[in-house]
Amino acid sequence: MKGILLTATWNFGRLAVERAFNALELGASALDAVETGINAVEMDPSVQSVGYGGLPNRAGYVELDAAIMDAHGHRSGAVAALRGFPRAISVARRVMEVLPHALLVGEGAAEFAREQGFEEEETLSPEASEQWLQWRETQAPPADVEDHDTVGMILWTPDTIVVGCSTSGLKWKYPGRVGDSPIVGAGLYADAEVGAAVATGNGDEISRVALCSRVAFLMELGRSAQEACDEAIRYLMRKRSDEKGVPPHAAVLAVRADGSFGVSASYAKFPYALHDGQSLTMHEREALQPD
Ligand code: GLY
Repeated sequence: MKGILLTATWNFGRLAVERAFNALELGASALDAVETGINAVEMDPSVQSVGYGGLPNRAGYVELDAAIMDAHGHRSGAVAALRGFPRAISVARRVMEVLPHALLVGEGAAEFAREQGFEEEETLSPEASEQWLQWRETQAPPADVEDHDTVGMILWTPDTIVVGCSTSGLKWKYPGRVGDSPIVGAGLYADAEVGAAVATGNGDEISRVALCSRVAFLMELGRSAQEACDEAIRYLMRKRSDEKGVPPHAAVLAVRADGSFGVSASYAKFPYALHDGQSLTMHEREALQPD
């Protein structure tokens, strides 16, 4: 298939890209393809940072964040702290399609999902429950290096740019904590004249620098997708590294409106999947050096 670029975060990005590409080959729309790809990761119980199987918050229940943005029409929809609906990206898409709102949270998001006919399902897997019970014994804070693994996907064609992301967020988070993923400008952004970006990593820190809107703005100023990703990650490193100079974990993928691609990460070996319409390849990004 010619004239497409599909990319997704992490090793599970392979599954997301495969499913999205298959859907496109069967004639799916760009929105359907992104939703299908992300749903596949949401329903994979082995992925402990997205959808069903995601690790719960400190109270022991799973709260999901997701968003989708369609560059054409500059439309978006998102849900945050959603309980009981593992396909959070599908609910986010429905918010975009039927409501005038950009984001629903908590019980309001669940009520909307029910009203729209989504089936309530278990989100806590037996494995995740077991890990939570073990954590509760010590209540050790999670290390920053772990478990911020959002599935983020960008689909570009000459006429379309769609970006989506979904996560169960930081494990053992405070109930009600919302990360970057459902926040337009933080965890994702898309502009038909500029391009799109999607982030993964420490969502509190990504939100503090509005990472994806920065990437988009830099592309709008004329930077390549790669330059924009590097500059935005350097900005995060400058603003939010700790007293020892250790930056927060964050990575960003971007596609310009002309179809060119960029990726940058604040830490070593960030894996992502890329499909150019001919083949699907996996890559690893080395950590960007601070200036
Ligand atoms: N980036 C996902 C989160 O921190 O919630």
